[in-house]
Amino acid sequence: MDFWLKETSLKPYNTFGVEVSASSIALVREEGQFLRLLEHVRSSGRQLLILGGGSNVLLVRDWAGVVALNKIEGIHVVDEDSESVVVKVGSGHNWHRLVMWSVERGLGGIENLALIPGSVGAGPMQNIGAYGVELSETFVELEALSLKDGTKRIFGLADCGFGYRHSVFKAQEKGKWFIRSITLRLSKRPELRLDYGNLREEVQRLGVDRPGPAEVAQAVINIRRSKLPDPAVLGNAGSFFKNPEVPMKRAQELLTEYPSMPTYASQKPGFIKLAAGWLIEQCGLKGYRRGPCGVHERQALVLVNYGGATGRQILDLALHVQETVHRKFDIMLEPEVNIIA
Ligand code: FAD
Ligand code: EPU
Repeated sequence: MDFWLKETSLKPYNTFGVEVSASSIALVREEGQFLRLLEHVRSSGRQLLILGGGSNVLLVRDWAGVVALNKIEGIHVVDEDSESVVVKVGSGHNWHRLVMWSVERGLGGIENLALIPGSVGAGPMQNIGAYGVELSETFVELEALSLKDGTKRIFGLADCGFGYRHSVFKAQEKGKWFIRSITLRLSKRPELRLDYGNLREEVQRLGVDRPGPAEVAQAVINIRRSKLPDPAVLGNAGSFFKNPEVPMKRAQELLTEYPSMPTYASQKPGFIKLAAGWLIEQCGLKGYRRGPCGVHERQALVLVNYGGATGRQILDLALHVQETVHRKFDIMLEPEVNIIA
């Protein structure tokens, strides 16, 4: 078949830069290829792991099955009116390239999500979010292929069960679908969302009279570059844990003890979101290093591979962070990264 790579190392295909291998790796550029690969996987009884950019996975051991690297690309305008443009995008398209395509046309909706690494198709998995905006806000639908028999299903907004870093694809539909494309509605009359952190100041610093989506994206890029390690330089998968959502009462108790503790509104009624990075830093773990891996020195929510760390070592570090935070705050951090064991 025309899609097998010669190599079997997954090191170039996960942003943690962990050295593990697969029994075989396929590069998939179109739907037909994916269906043929699926047929092969099913008839040979092997397991399939789908990877986009590998920027939200921790590979803990060699993968005995097949890995599909998704490169199904392309942006298609499927509808347009005076208010909006609806685009259907191949799931293997690079997410940041889609954001740049959108802002170059003055379209609004995803500019706050600039520079999130990885593929378009992984976006709905955890409902990617940053700087006060989530994918779900522009999402129309996605097209998915069943991993059981290749049949197609459309998931509308209500079917996806989006929440904070959550969707049905991390819950009851986990491991059942290949996301083939997603459809988003982008606005011709963008309403800028500048309330998160220092985003408004960063946009003002650009000195543009009437900032639009392109300036917001640029400001987000500037902030992200100053805070988050570039995986090309230092292996990481972004935030390792989700920000915990705790009952209002618990948040109040903590605020009495730590009045400067950052808090955020939660979509869950009666809950408040805390900053896991702050909790980890309070435990004295910011910059903590354990062999070849550690807690990033500028962003405690990011675990990093200084070179040569195994998935197991990074997982052990994550468990140590989890236990330490639990002991001090009685809060159990939940991984955001998909642990592939
Ligand atoms: P992968 O890591 O390849 O896959 C993630 C999971 O989705 C795996 O379980 C995989 O099997 C599955 N999957 C991937 N593609 C498909 C598909 N087409 N069909 C079915 N299953 C699929 N995330 C945020 O939400 N906000 C941020 O601000 C953010 N910042 C980050 C910063 C850095 C420096 C890094 C390294 C990561 C960051 N992330 C962030 C996490 C990550 O970029 C996102 O989760 C991204 O959507 C992952 O895309 P990917 O293609 O690399 O997914
Ligand atoms: N903080 C600390 N110490 C730290 C890190 C953060 O005290 O070491 C404090 C900050 O000072 C701030 C608060 O925690 O008051 C929040 O920090 P930040 O704005 O950097 O965001 P975050 O909660 O660490 C979340 C997302 C990121 C996203 C940013 C911006 C999660 C799990 N993470 O990080 O997403 O880019 O907000 O919206 O929700 C990712 O998912 O991989 C990711 C990077």
